[in-house]
Amino acid sequence: MRALDLVHDTIKKYVKAGSICIDATMGRGYDTAYLASLAGDSGKVIAFDIQKSALDSTSSLLKEKGYENVELILDSHANMAKYATDESVDCIVFNLGYLPNGDHTIYTHADSTIEAITSGLKILKKGGLMCVSIYYGGDSGYEEKDALLPFLKNLDDEKYQVIMASFFNWKNDPPIPVFILKN
Ligand SMILES: C[S@@+](CC[C@H](N)C(=O)[O-])C[C@H]1O[C@@H](n2cnc3c(N)ncnc32)[C@H](O)[C@@H]1O
Repeated sequence: MRALDLVHDTIKKYVKAGSICIDATMGRGYDTAYLASLAGDSGKVIAFDIQKSALDSTSSLLKEKGYENVELILDSHANMAKYATDESVDCIVFNLGYLPNGDHTIYTHADSTIEAITSGLKILKKGGLMCVSIYYGGDSGYEEKDALLPFLKNLDDEKYQVIMASFFNWKNDPPIPVFILKN
């Protein structure tokens, strides 16, 4: 099983026709397209990236698949609360690290990721799901993971359940899928 399969299987339980979703790190658009397929024409996906090449790839993928329920935004996910009202979003997905087959010097960073998760938790509905797949090591290093884990560990347990999966016997910095459920 890949981290992606675990995340997509979980998302499927929370995202239904009519859901409002955010892809916080659109990259090549695979998560955006998956969310769009589940949310359907009566739902909506808002996807963010700071790289124009990510928007171009995602736009082509969505055209190819015929999904028209997506808004692509060239902005940092730290600003996501400007695009949705409090407690209006069913699912928010982060896939951290750098753009696959892209520039490895541009990747997610702890300060903006933590700001984005904090904003995301405000706009997430009660009963909603946030998925944060932590990719680290290699060119993006360990700084983001090392800051994120204590931040996630300290989220208020009256308001959120934080569930972390571990590929326990994998070598070489396996991804860490984290699921945050808003009570
Ligand atoms: C691992 S990739 C995402 C892969 C994507 N989910 C897919 O299906 O292809 C991480 C993406 O986060 C983007 N990114 C980095 N910092 C960001 C920020 N502050 N706001 C939004 N996106 C950011 C990068 O440009 C990169 O495209």
